[in-house]
Amino acid sequence: MSDHPSTYKPGTAIERWLDSRLPIIRFGADLMSFPTPRNLNYWYTFGGILAFCLVVQIVTGIVLAMHYDTSGAGAFISVNRGIMRDVNYGWLIRGLHANGASMFFLAVYLHILRGLYYGSYKAPREVLWLLGCVIYFLMVVTAFMGYVLPWGQMSFWAAKVITNVLGAIPVVGDTITTLLWGGYAVDSPTLNRFFSLHYLLPFVIAAVVALHIWALHVPGNANPTGVEVKSKSDTLPFHPFYTVKDLFAISVFMIMFAVFVFYLPEAMGKVDNSVAANPLQTPAHIVPEWYLLPFYAILRAVPDKLLGVVALAGALGVLFALPWLDTSKVRSMRYRPTYRTFFFFWVVACAALGWCGGQEPDGQIIHGFEGPVLIDYDINSVTWLSRISALYYFAYFLVITPVLGLTETPLPVPDSLYTPVLSHPAGAPAGAAAAPETKG
Ligand code: HEM
Repeated sequence: MSDHPSTYKPGTAIERWLDSRLPIIRFGADLMSFPTPRNLNYWYTFGGILAFCLVVQIVTGIVLAMHYDTSGAGAFISVNRGIMRDVNYGWLIRGLHANGASMFFLAVYLHILRGLYYGSYKAPREVLWLLGCVIYFLMVVTAFMGYVLPWGQMSFWAAKVITNVLGAIPVVGDTITTLLWGGYAVDSPTLNRFFSLHYLLPFVIAAVVALHIWALHVPGNANPTGVEVKSKSDTLPFHPFYTVKDLFAISVFMIMFAVFVFYLPEAMGKVDNSVAANPLQTPAHIVPEWYLLPFYAILRAVPDKLLGVVALAGALGVLFALPWLDTSKVRSMRYRPTYRTFFFFWVVACAALGWCGGQEPDGQIIHGFEGPVLIDYDINSVTWLSRISALYYFAYFLVITPVLGLTETPLPVPDSLYTPVLSHPAGAPAGAAAAPETKG
């Protein structure tokens, strides 16, 4: 919180000397003593888990880059033979990086769902939310470019489909495509560009994460009740209470991560990507990674290429607009039962879109060089399910959220954030004893 007074006292002469020149220890100490709402549940540990994922991706990515060949002729071999077989523990570093991307997205989706459910995006945390949306957008772009780097069949054709789609943007579309391609087709220069940007963007993400956390520390954390912190007794110092909770959650997360890396390393990969890129042979079924499938379904649900791009951009755009679309005075869905029901249907619609994105379109695939126009759709049940789900996705943000915010009668909201903790059977004894003691 901006009004959180510093409690740091430099202990030694060196600390005093440094503190008056670069108060970096004070900064760290203030982060640790930051007053944090006492009722944060495990959904609030995903921020820490995400920071852990970002570090894993950057560290493993830097090591992979040491052994990666950025040329179209050498990329596939350098990954599949060099890194996977010749480099000591290369299989482990690659397994951590490739599965780490999926873990990162799993964590970010849970982090976003938490934000949506508890209304964390509402005033005064709009900038925090907007920065989160920027991070998410950068993550999508980074992951897409990373997927291209092994230069297998799926890498090549995913790059082809998506760059072709960008070509539909009026006026600048062709220029963007040519710039990304580094020529007039997806080829070695494209791979070089993607590698360069894939290396750069995680550091941009890290910088935006720093802003995200700064923006968090100005109003302070929200909490599951949505009731703002009113007095010191509503909070606990971040350390040791939440450092321990975050570390525990990160440890559990690491176990799941390890199961994938050691027992299911290819579970999220595509068999086609074990075959080197071949511009003359279109794979039967071009699909992105699981975390981009809902967007892919939205793109394919729209029969027109340009409108597809508009829908895709809109699907992200509505997230940015959310703080201003939600008209309700009540923050948390705990006290908004009707909105909560619509929210659960929205989650189901996203899952349905994800499923649709992974299905083969029931149509013909014409072999040639033209990206998505290769696929000649029949209108089938998958297409209809994606259309209905996509419509609900947009209606939820553009109609249900603003209208329900004005019309729904919420349940009574507690006066203080620890009232529900005290009335909870498990929380009563400890909470009842702790609350009055810490009142300040
Ligand atoms: C690399 C990705 C990210 C990192 C490292 C990160 C980190 C964090 C951390 C450490 C917190 C505080 C702890 C917590 O509430 O979990 C936080 C809170 C928050 N984040 Fe993120 N975040 C990331 C991505 C996102 C994205 C994509 C969004 C939304 C689109 C988002 C929205 C929020 C919001 C609204 C809060 C405040 C929650 C509250 O106080 O109720 N974050 N983030």
